[in-house]
Amino acid sequence: MAFTPLTSLDVAGRRLAVRADLNVPLTRDGVGDATRIARFARGMKPLLEQGARLIVLTHLGRPNGELTPALTTERLVPALAEALGRKVMFNDTCVGPIVERRGEALRPGEVLLCENLRFERGEEQNDARLGAGLARLGDIYVNDAFSCCHRAHASTTAAVLAAERVAVGPLFLEELSALEGALADPQPPSVALIGGGSVAPRLGLLKRLVPRINTILLGGGIANAFLFARGYSIGRSFIEPEYAEDVLEIAALAEVAGCRIVTPDDFVVAGFQRVGINSYPVPLGGVRANRRILDIGPNTIARYQDILRDARTILWNGPMGTYETPPFDAGTRALAQSVAELTRAGLAVSVAGGGDTLVALNRTGVAHDFTHVSTAGGAFLEWLEGRTMPGLDALERKADAA
Ligand code: 3PG
Repeated sequence: MAFTPLTSLDVAGRRLAVRADLNVPLTRDGVGDATRIARFARGMKPLLEQGARLIVLTHLGRPNGELTPALTTERLVPALAEALGRKVMFNDTCVGPIVERRGEALRPGEVLLCENLRFERGEEQNDARLGAGLARLGDIYVNDAFSCCHRAHASTTAAVLAAERVAVGPLFLEELSALEGALADPQPPSVALIGGGSVAPRLGLLKRLVPRINTILLGGGIANAFLFARGYSIGRSFIEPEYAEDVLEIAALAEVAGCRIVTPDDFVVAGFQRVGINSYPVPLGGVRANRRILDIGPNTIARYQDILRDARTILWNGPMGTYETPPFDAGTRALAQSVAELTRAGLAVSVAGGGDTLVALNRTGVAHDFTHVSTAGGAFLEWLEGRTMPGLDALERKADAA
């Protein structure tokens, strides 16, 4: 990695314009899950103690260039202030002379949060003028949003190219080194747990994992796709039949590569996904036409736990069932607890990522036991798939030019 880590620079008295990813779920009362804020703040606190002057840039939701009051980043001020343990000021724009002046007036250790980047039309268009305006906010322009690097936006791309001095933030580096560590050279036996709802974003991921990982354990919609393609009844379960051929191609690639793809051999089924609905386990082949697969079954949990016990590297993306509706969270919970125990005992390195995965692990209360839980959703998948990521590309171009 040729990127300059922010932590290697003397930041005392410097204005840091930091592209963070504080895109958190919101509730009526404020922030739903503050993990991203907490992880960002953990990296920034020591820099503020050294006297950095912090200007925070983030998007929130998808307002499509429109000023959308419900998505103002002002709503994040209390959570950010609590996480940083200091006062956070707010500016109702993220670019222009007013915010520039307020940034210049910051004293060491002070923090200014700017309005939602995506209220600016130029953000998603990767507008060069907006990029230059964002870059001007700091003596150093910092990308601390690995989770946004799959977007070619002004704050991740144009601003990086325009800035005089560029660095990457602590959370960015933590994310990237954990992923590189887990995938560039995974300690065998390596196991990937892949679940989640939709199939399409996981096809590329599986193709990339097959030559690198010893065993892949499937759950959720992607498991349904494999079972459907092999001719098993999956009742009224969620399915995207158009991917049957891709799935068979992946199965063939796995055979050539010596990668074992394991699908569930029992499931918890019910008529609907609803809390308290009558549900029961059935074996593979026993899913009736009017039933839905909502979780992996007890035999599958035990079988997956056995396989995990021998793993030295564990990668996880996507819950095993519809974890948001108990009791269909049982499979995800049981496996999350096993991975956490193995990690705590020092037997395995575990890396998990993806929006739902993060929420599921937080709900189980074991996220902190994993070696690394990525705050990235789409970016986590795209990195694992080996796609070119515009935000990383811009940083690399900048590093080459230096
Ligand atoms: C995420 O939540 O994965 C990032 O914040 C990127 O958000 P986006 O998918 O709206 O670009």
